[in-house]
Amino acid sequence: MGPPIGLFSLFLGASRFATLAKSQCQPQPVVAPIQNVSLPNGAFVRGISMTVGSNDQNISLFASGDYNETYIYGTNGLCPDVYSSAACVTLHGGAYDISESSTDKAIGSRKYSDGFGADWTEDTLSFGSNTSLSSFGFGVPRKDFNQAFASQSQLGLGSNSSFLRALVTAGDIGTKAYSIFWGLVGGPAEKQTRGSLILGGLDKSLIADQNDNFTASLFRSSSCGSGMVVTISDILLNWPNGTDTSIFMGSQSAAIQACISPSFAGLMSLPLSYYNNFWSLAGGIPPDNKSEARSFGINYFTMLFDPNDVYYGGLTIKLQNSISVKIPNTELVVPDTYITSNGAVQTNASVRNVVINSLQSNNVNDLPILGRLFMSSAYVMVNQEAGRFSIWQANTASITSDIVAVDTQNNMVSEFCANSTGGSSTATSSPTSSVTSPPQNEESKLSGSAIGGIVVGAVGGIAVLGTIGFFLYRRQGSHGAATGMAQESELHTEDVKPPTYSMVPAGPQELPVDQYNITELDSRAVDSSRYPYRN
Ligand SMILES: *[C@@H]1O[C@H](CO)[C@@H](O)[C@H](O)[C@H]1NC(C)=O
Ligand SMILES: *[C@@H]1O[C@H](CO)[C@@H](O)[C@H](O)[C@H]1NC(C)=O
Ligand SMILES: *[C@@H]1O[C@H](CO)[C@@H](O)[C@H](O)[C@H]1NC(C)=O
Ligand SMILES: *[C@@H]1O[C@H](CO)[C@@H](O)[C@H](O)[C@H]1NC(C)=O
Ligand SMILES: *[C@@H]1O[C@H](CO)[C@@H](O)[C@H](O)[C@H]1NC(C)=O
Ligand SMILES: *[C@@H]1O[C@H](CO)[C@@H](O)[C@H](O)[C@H]1NC(C)=O
Ligand SMILES: *[C@@H]1O[C@H](CO)[C@@H](O)[C@H](O)[C@H]1NC(C)=O
Ligand SMILES: *[C@@H]1O[C@H](CO)[C@@H](O)[C@H](O)[C@H]1NC(C)=O
Ligand SMILES: *[C@@H]1O[C@H](CO)[C@@H](O)[C@H](O)[C@H]1NC(C)=O
Ligand SMILES: *[C@@H]1O[C@H](CO)[C@@H](O)[C@H](O)[C@H]1NC(C)=O
Repeated sequence: MGPPIGLFSLFLGASRFATLAKSQCQPQPVVAPIQNVSLPNGAFVRGISMTVGSNDQNISLFASGDYNETYIYGTNGLCPDVYSSAACVTLHGGAYDISESSTDKAIGSRKYSDGFGADWTEDTLSFGSNTSLSSFGFGVPRKDFNQAFASQSQLGLGSNSSFLRALVTAGDIGTKAYSIFWGLVGGPAEKQTRGSLILGGLDKSLIADQNDNFTASLFRSSSCGSGMVVTISDILLNWPNGTDTSIFMGSQSAAIQACISPSFAGLMSLPLSYYNNFWSLAGGIPPDNKSEARSFGINYFTMLFDPNDVYYGGLTIKLQNSISVKIPNTELVVPDTYITSNGAVQTNASVRNVVINSLQSNNVNDLPILGRLFMSSAYVMVNQEAGRFSIWQANTASITSDIVAVDTQNNMVSEFCANSTGGSSTATSSPTSSVTSPPQNEESKLSGSAIGGIVVGAVGGIAVLGTIGFFLYRRQGSHGAATGMAQESELHTEDVKPPTYSMVPAGPQELPVDQYNITELDSRAVDSSRYPYRN
């Protein structure tokens, strides 16, 4: 790699010299599809599709931006009592049966990596068209570690990710970086599309406009283990007639911090006052004339409404001084899917699910989260080596892929090394398998007028938040509140050691994330009364 280029970059700015990097080849990125995974109990759940063990057991995983190790649930249940054993397999995205694999090998504890107690083992992990790590070490959890908020096995993509390290060591990828598009999931089956997890690079075809990006330094803390802290400067309701209405009600000081957590249920959590603004503007009544109803299904704890009276527009999330991410109505107001006792995933047609979680009671002061459904509308790339992350509006209509690698300086590199494979794995030469869905155009449903009506750049040029310090309130110990949401990030489990507080200096043009004064949240007990029971 180029120390000379690194030096030039220091003086002259890395981005202007991106073309220089093209002279250095990178291994071709590898692709893991995000799609419905077929489980042994006959159910289908969406997640990162992988197989484990000598007999290729199907496992669906969520991408954890926090954990360094990977955790794959075993056959020992560990779901709350209200889940039958079949429902538990679906909730967890499959169950790795160690006794069925002939290639497993127990290894020493890696508890020090994340602080979790687990049974540590090595086995084959395969994904995509032809990538396989033959002795990949992971943990089989000994307890349910984030209930239904991030229920599946966790692919650890944290700052010292053992998975990314293994791929780099094997020569499969050149840089510890990943990009996620969750795919379209809200509409009927024929409108749903595959997503992809790209390792070592990204798929440029999934980016609506490459220059229209939000890029900032990763800033890990106990309240945002993924390090992807963003400032939301406005949230607009996009009405079908082209009018946009701000749920910030014109306030100039209403910006909120949020943490992107790719494993977390739903589109986003919102502080109660913002949710109340959303609701009063968007309208809609909860089912059965209740004051509030929440899903206990796949989009756990997000809001339920009567199908005959529910918001019919889209939503735009504006990130400070930067991009807008538009969420079409089809990805915001979705069928309520839940797990039945035989493990199948079904839809409750008597309700509609608005995939927003209002933070109240125990969670009233939690840092809001942009969860996995955010990545149905946004494309997110994390480069652990550059210490940076980027967000673009996703081009959900992408039909062909355009995969490029990223290097450790976060330059995109489209020249792939002739032979990059080696070690214990084999890299595919046909990553085009990532996005093969039929053409989609969710945007067209909103029509040009709705899109044209977006007010762009309302805060442009005004560094409103330039010097605002962000402060997280310490939890006030209001235990036992009926609607307590137990966890806002997968880090907050009693079993986890407090993550190291790290400061990543931000570049001059970026958000001053290193100025935020973030105090630690207390970890808290799980309110087990919230677990769902479905027949
Ligand atoms: C695993 O997934 C494949 C498709 O990827 C499917 O053909 C197979 O039946 C699944 N196996 C089980 C046990 O569900
Ligand atoms: C992952 O590893 C890094 C570097 O060792 C460490 O700072 C971080 O705390 C670890 N993450 C977790 C969740 O423990
Ligand atoms: C996977 O890649 C290896 C090495 O490139 C090749 O020998 C093997 O045939 C490939 N397998 C499939 C199923 O494509
Ligand atoms: C990353 O993890 C490996 C294996 O657990 C460890 O040897 C290494 O020191 C860690 N790196 C950092 C920066 O913590
Ligand atoms: C994926 O599975 C879910 C049930 O978990 C189902 O509702 C959905 O229609 C399936 N999507 C596709 C494209 O088959
Ligand atoms: C983000 O956009 C800027 C121009 O606005 C561009 O120079 C930069 O390369 C883009 N970054 C990425 C990671 O695409
Ligand atoms: C568009 O629809 C919204 C919601 O029904 C309404 O408040 C607004 O006045 C309408 N705008 C126009 C220009 O008709
Ligand atoms: C819903 O509740 C309101 C007040 O709580 C009441 O006036 C109204 O009649 C109820 N509607 C139905 C259909 O029960
Ligand atoms: C479906 O939603 C309705 C309305 O909230 C509820 O009464 C019913 O119990 C739900 N059905 C299932 C199977 O959860
Ligand atoms: C490619 O692989 C072959 C055989 O493994 C090796 O002889 C050759 O030097 C490699 N080329 C490069 C550029 O690494």
